[in-house]
Amino acid sequence: MGIAFDKYLERQKQLEEQYGAEYYAKQHNRGKLTARERILMLFDEGSFEEVDAFIPSAGGTTFGKTTKAFGDGVIAGFGTINGRQAYAYSQDFNVMGGSLGAVHAAKITKVQDMALKTGHPVIALIDSGGARIQEGVASLNGYANIFRRNVLASGVVPQISAIMGPAAGGAVYSPALTDFIFMSEGTSYMFVTGPDVVKQVLNEDVTTEQLGGAKVHSSKSGVAQFVYQDDANLILGIKRLLTYLPSNNIENPPFVQNDDPTDRVEVALRDIVPEDPDKPYDVRDVIRLVVDKGRFFEVAENFAQNLVVGYARIGGYVVGIVANQPKVMAGSLDIDSSVKGARFINFCNAFNIPIITFEDVPGFLPGTDQEHQGIIRNGAKLLYAYTRATVPKITVILRKSYGGAYIVMNSKGIGGDYSFAWPTAEIAVMGPDGAIAILCRKELAAAEDPAALKKELVAKYREEVANPYIADEKGFIDEVIDPAQTRSKIYRVLKTLDNKSVSMPRRKNGNTPL
Ligand code: HXC
Repeated sequence: MGIAFDKYLERQKQLEEQYGAEYYAKQHNRGKLTARERILMLFDEGSFEEVDAFIPSAGGTTFGKTTKAFGDGVIAGFGTINGRQAYAYSQDFNVMGGSLGAVHAAKITKVQDMALKTGHPVIALIDSGGARIQEGVASLNGYANIFRRNVLASGVVPQISAIMGPAAGGAVYSPALTDFIFMSEGTSYMFVTGPDVVKQVLNEDVTTEQLGGAKVHSSKSGVAQFVYQDDANLILGIKRLLTYLPSNNIENPPFVQNDDPTDRVEVALRDIVPEDPDKPYDVRDVIRLVVDKGRFFEVAENFAQNLVVGYARIGGYVVGIVANQPKVMAGSLDIDSSVKGARFINFCNAFNIPIITFEDVPGFLPGTDQEHQGIIRNGAKLLYAYTRATVPKITVILRKSYGGAYIVMNSKGIGGDYSFAWPTAEIAVMGPDGAIAILCRKELAAAEDPAALKKELVAKYREEVANPYIADEKGFIDEVIDPAQTRSKIYRVLKTLDNKSVSMPRRKNGNTPL
């Protein structure tokens, strides 16, 4: 090939030189992997194809700062992850702080377009100072183009963002428009306005970590669903999540055969719910005993812990699990848990993942704090999400199922397909204490020993009203089951609902409560 090939080799050499030893040391000294190491680690070995590696920056000079780099500070392309096609881009903090210029943005939108056209997930590895200052409005337009594609791809292909360095200003909105956000502990942060602006406007001193570090976003704001101790573990986490997701909204999630028998009887489930109705237990113990091989991949485990959500398999089929957590706030529903549940359900519905609900909920959390912050409109998000979802929806009522929470947590009335109840289920308009206080106010006021009478009436209410058999006889639940058989019961219903098909009224969009 002669001269033509020499030129090809020369270009490859230039690219290599851009990534010399110094390049690696710079990122490693920050406790981070380089953009190239990250993307190569994400894809199966040898499978990554890079697009536009040689494309130069758009140029533009402001205050003597010129943009110049092969690839314009982002590595983009496609390959296989766990043997399945995927697209990704990885921002390079070593090149102009990973800032986003016009060419950088065009590379990202190229892979977004290819992913949407071919029906494969997009993974964004973000490490960027945001809009490239010297390119001005062209870089803002670049973000706008990315955001538009994030929205078009929403519910069509899974979109995952990993924050592995800074994500500041409006740049946070691309991750926020995607389905899941991962963060590396101690080296990543996200905020709309940084500590300097906070200081100027509010005179508050705050560090980047306190303002928008991984801990804050995974436990307080709910912005990030996953935190890993470093970049390498974070990438393994993304790979694990992908094993539960279909490549697009037309496919089903990956079925994985395993040797856990679908008719496994789990006697331990009979004793998990304590005799005392006010005693807590960990609902994750129930989940692990029911799902294949006890493997449960929890989503947003540090946020709104009164509701547990995550992925697992039953008989090899992927399911999304939503479970009240009696161990935290007695499992009551508040604003954060309603929003967490709604978002999880919306994703499951978009991507054909059946939803299994384990219910033990005393009701919505009362109080001025919740009311003033909008438990009405936020609780409505959960109700809306469950009702709108057309994937198979199965409920198991473990214990408490009271009032509005009974309705919201996938009752048959809002479209739940099948409801089981354990013999320990308490289904009623309200809990025994509240009900007796209202129904028997006069008798209690006249009693010689009101406390003893209340105890007696509460026990009677539990026996006669707050049990699963009334709902069973009226058809509001389908079966009262032996807890030990929960796994096989769910599996059978999952199988029969496999071909579930329902159509919703035609409309442009529903007006989701916000
Ligand atoms: C151009 C940038 C840049 C940017 C960083 N760099 N951010 N260049 N445009 N936005 C360059 C720096 O000049 C420097 O170049 C190199 O990247 C590394 O940056 P440092 O500041 O030395 O690194 P560090 O101390 O780690 O600080 C990182 C940082 C800081 C916190 C991200 O750089 C920073 O505050 N950048 C600006 C963040 C920001 O406000 N971005 C705009 C957000 S608004 P040299 O040549 O010296 O190595 C936005 C609008 C989006 O993004 C709109 C969407 C709606």
